[in-house]
Amino acid sequence: MFNTPLIAAPMAGGTTTAALALAAQGAGAFAFAAGGYKTAEQLARHIAPLRATGGNFGVNLFVPRTTPLGADAAARLAAYRVELLATAARYGAEVPLAAPPQEDPRVQDYWDEKIALLLADPIPMVSFTFGLAPAEVVSRLHQAGTRVVASVTSAAEAVAAVATGVDALVVQHTNAGGHTAAFLAAGGPSAENTRTGTHLTLPQLLSEVRSAVSVPLVGAGGVSGPAEAKAALAAGATAVAIGTALIRTEESGARPLHKDALADPGYTRTAMTRAFTGKPARALVNGFVRDHTATAPEAYPEVHFLTAPLRAAAAAAQDPRALNLWAGTGWKSAQAVPVAAVVKEFLREL
Ligand SMILES: Cc1cc2nc3c(=O)[nH]c(=O)nc-3n(C[C@H](O)[C@H](O)[C@H](O)COP(=O)(O)O)c2cc1C
Repeated sequence: MFNTPLIAAPMAGGTTTAALALAAQGAGAFAFAAGGYKTAEQLARHIAPLRATGGNFGVNLFVPRTTPLGADAAARLAAYRVELLATAARYGAEVPLAAPPQEDPRVQDYWDEKIALLLADPIPMVSFTFGLAPAEVVSRLHQAGTRVVASVTSAAEAVAAVATGVDALVVQHTNAGGHTAAFLAAGGPSAENTRTGTHLTLPQLLSEVRSAVSVPLVGAGGVSGPAEAKAALAAGATAVAIGTALIRTEESGARPLHKDALADPGYTRTAMTRAFTGKPARALVNGFVRDHTATAPEAYPEVHFLTAPLRAAAAAAQDPRALNLWAGTGWKSAQAVPVAAVVKEFLREL
């Protein structure tokens, strides 16, 4: 499926550049391009250099929420907007009066047009996160010759994903940087464990998923060096995916403020927070995480749109205190070197 035990995880929002994916592929990893947040046109441009290599690669897409925000979440969103005003004012930023509606292409993350693009001009692999692609989409991708991968965080989610016909799963542990792939609110005891992160290690989660489904598994989350990678492979994964380990690389498109924060000893921990986007994501704990995690509603992507101008203003002011500094628990190992150096260090030992 992947022909290598190491995968460069997709990192939307600018971190995964075409250069990062190409360098990872060139050094012997399987590379995922990041389709999240992009229009179809932007995605086509992003993957053109990968298509040109004729090599194996994947595109990752966000699965949009299919129902409008509930009344409770909408009320909490409105209250959260008011709470954000003071923080935004510090940066001279606006908080939009309302998030775009459910049917807005931005809320749908340009799903229809990106699926159409990938069906019209197929690529080797597509992976999904934040939910399951409908079985009918999986089947059409298969007909186009594309392998399909779903991201899960528990055995219950794995079973649901396999029922849609996918070829493999990314099993993401809660130690992962960035957004959780979780899509089942109550996926049974193991989902609860992964959410709290206090009970299962990545190898334990992989064994649990392994006993529930038989498709190939990719372990992800907190794989900061060859030791974690080997443990995941020993627990039944065919490959591991690394994200945080690539954020500081030369080819990464992460903001310099983000790259520098990962190396700044002033940051002492990461936390799961909905404060930036309305979906739990692991980030370095900064002022914004401290001030807003307790109150942020479960409203993705509405919160993302509310905080976007504020985050842009903080970035323009070179102030990391209100930035989403996505980081997995292994962030201290991330190095400012070329991607090939990171990939080769892993592959030497795998
Ligand atoms: C900056 C950043 C952006 C991410 N964006 C995506 C994304 O677009 N799609 C996705 O499936 N996962 C995304 N993730 C999660 C990664 O794919 C992967 O699961 C995670 O990085 C693995 O854990 P690690 O960060 O500890 O290596 C992102 C992670 C980070 C750190």
